[in-house]
Amino acid sequence: MNTVHIPASRPYDVQIGPGLLYSLGDRVKALCPRAGRCLVVTDDAVGPLWLRKATHPLCAGDLPFHVYTLPHGEASKTAEQLVALLNCAASLHLTRSDVFLALGGGMVGDLTGLAAATYMRGVDYIQIPTTLLAAIDSSVGGKTAVDLPAGKNLMGAFWQPRHVLCDTDTLRTLPEADFVSGCAELIKTAVLFDPALFDLLAREGRDFDQAAVITRCVEHKRDVVAQDERDTGRRALLNLGHTLGHAAEAHSGFALTHGQAVAIGMATVCRAAGKYGICPPDLPAQVEAILEKFGLPTHTDYPLDALMERMLSDKKRAGNTVNVIVPERIGACAVRPMDRDVLRDFMKAGL
Ligand code: GLY
Repeated sequence: MNTVHIPASRPYDVQIGPGLLYSLGDRVKALCPRAGRCLVVTDDAVGPLWLRKATHPLCAGDLPFHVYTLPHGEASKTAEQLVALLNCAASLHLTRSDVFLALGGGMVGDLTGLAAATYMRGVDYIQIPTTLLAAIDSSVGGKTAVDLPAGKNLMGAFWQPRHVLCDTDTLRTLPEADFVSGCAELIKTAVLFDPALFDLLAREGRDFDQAAVITRCVEHKRDVVAQDERDTGRRALLNLGHTLGHAAEAHSGFALTHGQAVAIGMATVCRAAGKYGICPPDLPAQVEAILEKFGLPTHTDYPLDALMERMLSDKKRAGNTVNVIVPERIGACAVRPMDRDVLRDFMKAGL
């Protein structure tokens, strides 16, 4: 088992390794000694696979629990589902000393985290990520949110979990599309911070050592969160590929997975950076090659005007500019504010 300590305003550990679910009861008792009850939140795809394994140690530890199951998929990440979950917690008379457990991917983690942030002005929650994307990114760092009709993650809060328990066995049942989607965020982390990880992924492809690679990514996330927990500076780097990616994802009506959209976004900014002489000329081809090796797309034929409209309404916009993350070399990227015209020319160069 690997442990990464996250030195946030409310510090906690991320544990990564196979078979960790068995220790969930002990973790809850050690970390939340006043917890009378647990509210286990999952979805109808993960629940049938992992709920029994997760709740068995709660039973064994004499920890009463209730299960709340959401329909799977991003469409559940809504204010309505959030309120329904809060109403469930209230109808169970859960108190501030009880604990929420988020068993699932990014949707379950983000929504449960926001419910924990707001129920009685804040209760503890433990993230139990079951997707690669959640393991390396969304379960760590305390960003919680639901989507609004106007855009993704527009209603949210920073609320750090009490603990993250990443049982890598759960990745065995991950559908192929979700695994590949998570790989886009792995590649993103490598392009941002880690030439050695980039080389390893380029060499080994999908056969990488999951616990080791997840640990490496969580260490990078730790460093970013330690420097910029509230996302006012360096944390923006984590949006590499997301400006165009979010636009393409939304334009596709979510037919593109998040990872496919981020892959297209990343490849596009790399090609543009190459054409502008910001990065070495061979970097775009290197990034395209690794994305293709993992079965991820690198191009879109969506019209630039439609993508521009969505990019300009992104919540990451600041005033009249959009912060675009631009690679300078593998392992080093920069945040570049771009106004509408500069952004249009830059993306046009990369599409
Ligand atoms: N997922 C991006 C962040 O945590 O800032």
